[in-house]
Amino acid sequence: MKTVGVIGANGMVGRNTLAELEKIKRPFEVKKFGRNDEITPLDIAVLCTDNPVSRELAGQIKDRVKFIVDMSSEFRLDPAVPLVIPEINAHTITAATQLIASPNCTTTGLVMSLAPLKPFYQFPEVFFCSYQAISGGGKTLLDDFHTPGSYYEKNCVPKIGSIQPNGHTSEELKGVYETRKILELPDIKVYCHTVRVPVEVSHSLGVTLKADKPFDLEQVKTLWNQFPNLTYSEEVVTPKEVAGKETTFICRLRADVEDPRIIHYFVTFDNLLKGAAMNGRQIVDVLLEKYV
Ligand SMILES: NC(=O)c1ccc[n+]([C@@H]2O[C@H](COP(=O)([O-])OP(=O)(O)OC[C@H]3O[C@@H](n4cnc5c(N)ncnc54)[C@H](OP(=O)(O)O)[C@@H]3O)[C@@H](O)[C@H]2O)c1
Repeated sequence: MKTVGVIGANGMVGRNTLAELEKIKRPFEVKKFGRNDEITPLDIAVLCTDNPVSRELAGQIKDRVKFIVDMSSEFRLDPAVPLVIPEINAHTITAATQLIASPNCTTTGLVMSLAPLKPFYQFPEVFFCSYQAISGGGKTLLDDFHTPGSYYEKNCVPKIGSIQPNGHTSEELKGVYETRKILELPDIKVYCHTVRVPVEVSHSLGVTLKADKPFDLEQVKTLWNQFPNLTYSEEVVTPKEVAGKETTFICRLRADVEDPRIIHYFVTFDNLLKGAAMNGRQIVDVLLEKYV
């Protein structure tokens, strides 16, 4: 029997990954591993752990597992590691790619909105401001949020991750560099602010996108609606409504008041699902189907 192990199974992403794996309609056995568990040989290991732990574990288990799917940012920008959203670039997974990275959750929402437009428009620049859920910071941040007097209660915090020497946060730099890698657009300029908001689940982004020619708004909506797991809504959609859903929702599309080559829109999606566990499950499904 094929085996898929979830490592870090008691964390926010780990728990959701266990639930997501149940959706795969192929025969395989799931194994759960917590902090002090010995990891047994596996066909696929899904690392639902933070950066330094993921690197350490990947090194330890690489001779015992056929494939590693890592949810952390540790390997995402390594040129030898595919950074995969299966709807966009499943082709980057091969039998030879032992380690596969799942992208940053906020970047996932952005690139899901850009990928369907890419064959029809060239876009030199995109700007976004994020409204990121507390659960994106893992169970420690969620526990903090539920503690009376939390800094995050009734607040917006414009700092996610650490502030880098250039003044940007680590989260903002993920938005820049992961977008370029996933979309295979090394020159796209990504300008962003990332902000934590007092929402438990589902990240959102306000996006401004500039193209080489005027946008056809009806074509843009059609392209979004034809893309898997993506829906354009004529009604306003909020993070509360999309929590627990697999679909990434876009609403409020409009042309810029002065420049028809610019559009503005709002994206919202479940950060624990499409932003993490569902994307991981989709990668596992590709591996089980083709390579394990
Ligand atoms: N949350 C999101 O929306 C999201 C989205 C995309 C990607 N990610 C990434 O996914 C990863 C997990 O995030 P999370 O939000 O699930 O964090 P989390 O809730 O803090 O969970 C991390 C888990 O890792 C476990 N762990 C720590 N050291 C371990 C070890 N040596 N062996 C096995 N397990 C170990 C922890 O165990 P204990 O239970 O014993 O503490 C905990 O259960 C991170 O890299 C994060 O950046 C998260």
